[in-house]
Amino acid sequence: MIAGTNRYPQARGPTPSDARPIGPLRPDKRSTWPHPISHHTHHFLNVSITPPHLVPLKKKKQKQKTHAPRTYTGPWRELRFSLAGVAAAISKNGGSAGAEPAKSRVLVLGGTGRVGGSTAVALSKLLPDLRILVGGRNREKGVALVSKLGENSEFVEVNIDDASILEAALKDVDLVVHAAGPFQCKEKCTVLEAAISTKTAYVDVCDDTDYAWRAKGFHKEAIAAGVPAITTAGIYPGVSNVMAAELVRAAKSENAGEPERLRFFYYTAGSGGAGPTILATSFLLLGEDVIAYNKGKQIKLKPYSGGLTIDFGKGVKKKDVYLLNLPEVRSAHEILGVPTVSARFGTAPFFWNWGMQAVVNFLPPDILRDKKKVQKLVELIDPLVRAIDGIAGQQVSMRVDLECSKGRNTLSLFTHRNLSISVGFSVAAFALAVLEGSTQPGVWFPEEPEGIAVEAREVLLDRAAQGTVNFIMNKPPWMVETDPKEIGLGIYV
Ligand SMILES: NC(=O)c1ccc[n+]([C@@H]2O[C@H](COP(=O)([O-])OP(=O)(O)OC[C@H]3O[C@@H](n4cnc5c(N)ncnc54)[C@H](OP(=O)(O)O)[C@@H]3O)[C@@H](O)[C@H]2O)c1
Repeated sequence: MIAGTNRYPQARGPTPSDARPIGPLRPDKRSTWPHPISHHTHHFLNVSITPPHLVPLKKKKQKQKTHAPRTYTGPWRELRFSLAGVAAAISKNGGSAGAEPAKSRVLVLGGTGRVGGSTAVALSKLLPDLRILVGGRNREKGVALVSKLGENSEFVEVNIDDASILEAALKDVDLVVHAAGPFQCKEKCTVLEAAISTKTAYVDVCDDTDYAWRAKGFHKEAIAAGVPAITTAGIYPGVSNVMAAELVRAAKSENAGEPERLRFFYYTAGSGGAGPTILATSFLLLGEDVIAYNKGKQIKLKPYSGGLTIDFGKGVKKKDVYLLNLPEVRSAHEILGVPTVSARFGTAPFFWNWGMQAVVNFLPPDILRDKKKVQKLVELIDPLVRAIDGIAGQQVSMRVDLECSKGRNTLSLFTHRNLSISVGFSVAAFALAVLEGSTQPGVWFPEEPEGIAVEAREVLLDRAAQGTVNFIMNKPPWMVETDPKEIGLGIYV
C-alpha cells in the first residue's frame, strides 16, 4: 500500500526515451502473448506523444463506425490509421516470425453481466482474433453471449469466491478482466490474488475506494510475480483518470503554472442500465462520507451535498451534480500531485437527484451501510427505476476540469449516448493496452505512467471513445460550454 500523499508528484514528460519496449511480459506464457506491435502502430504511438495545447484529440462522427479509417489532422500531425489495422497489427506481429498469428486468451469475469458482457463485445470488435472466455456463474446467459461473439469465444463456469476454481480458470489465460462486481463491502481481492499466483495480467473495473487501495496493497507481490495489473480501469473511474492525467501533463509541458484544482463531473441518465445489485452499490455510496482534498488536506463532506450546475456541452448541456465518494479523487490527488480534488455526480430525471438527497437526509447512515437492507430497498424501487430508465435512456458524460496557478483553466469532455456500450469500449481499451505491453509489473491506477505508458494514452482514449458524440481534450471552458461567451472586444462564440 502506498502510504502518505504525493508519492508520485510528477507526471512523466512524454519524451521519446519514455517509450517502453513493447513486448511479452510473461515469459512463462510467452507463446500466447501477442506483442511486438507493428511498425505502423509504434510509429503512431511515437508521433502521438507531443499533442499541443488546445488541439482536440479528434472529432467524432455522430454514428459509430468501429472499423472505419479515421484521419487525424492538426498543426503537428496528419495520420491515418484504422482500428482494424491496429488490431491486425497487434495480432500478426505476435510470436516469432512466420508463426500463426498470436491469439491471446482473455477471461472476462462477470462476462454475463452488463459491464463484462459489453467488454467482451467491444474486445471482439477491436481485436477479432482475440480468444475471449466469458466467465460467470450463469451458464445460460454465458452461452447466449458466446453465440453472439462467434467461434473465438467460449463460456467458462467460474465462481470468483472459490479460489481453486478461479485459479484453474486462469491457468491458460493471458489476461483476466474482473467485472464481477460489486466491489463494495468485499474484504478480499480474490481475483487479483489468483492472477498474481497464476502469473496472469489483470484489469478490474472497481469503483470502490477501499477495494482499489486494497488492490494497490498487492503492488509488491505483483512486481515479484512479474504481473502487470490495473485497478479502477473502467469509464469512471478509469478513462476519466487518464483524461485528468493528460490535462496535468499538458499543463506542465506548456508551463501553465502548477496544477491547483482538479474536478471530476459525471452525468448519467437514469440508472445507466445498472441492475438491482449494482444499483444497491450506488445507495451504499450514499452512506459513505465523501473524501475530497482541499489545498493538500483531506476533508470529509456529506454525500450528495455541494450541488453545482455544470455545462456538459452539446447534447447534454447543463446538469446538476453533487459530491460523491469516488476512488479517482484520492488516486488523482496522490499520483498527479494536485492539491485540491473532488468528484461530483448527477443523474436524470432531476427528481432522482432529489431522491438521492432525501435518502441521505432521511435514512440513518447505518441502514445505508447495511448491504442487505439496501438490497431490499432497491428491490422495492427497481420496477420504478426500470420504467424511468425506458424514458431517460443511458446517456453518459464526463467532464474533467483543471485549474492552474497562472489562471489557466482547461477541461476534457466525453459524451456517449449509451453507458453500457461505452463502458465496454473503455474497459476493452485498458485490456488491449495491457496486452500490448503498456503496463509494467505491479498494481497501478490508470493515471500512473507505469500503468498506462504516456505514449499509449492516445490510443487508449481513441479506443475508449468509440461511438462518442462529443470527445474533447484539453480545451478552455468557453470553447466547450453551450452558452455563448464573450471572449473579449465584444466577440462572442
Ligand atoms: N469503473 C467503472 O467505470 C464502472 C462502471 C460501471 C460499473 N462498474 C462496476 O462494475 C461492476 C459490474 O457492474 P454491472 O453493471 O456489469 O453488474 P452486473 O450486470 O450485475 O454484472 C455483474 C456480474 O458479476 C457476476 N458475478 C457476481 N458475483 C460473482 C461471483 N461470485 N462469481 C462469478 N461471477 C459473479 C454476475 O454473475 P451472476 O449472473 O452469476 O450473478 C454478473 O454477471 C460493478 O461492481 C460496478 O460497480 C464500474
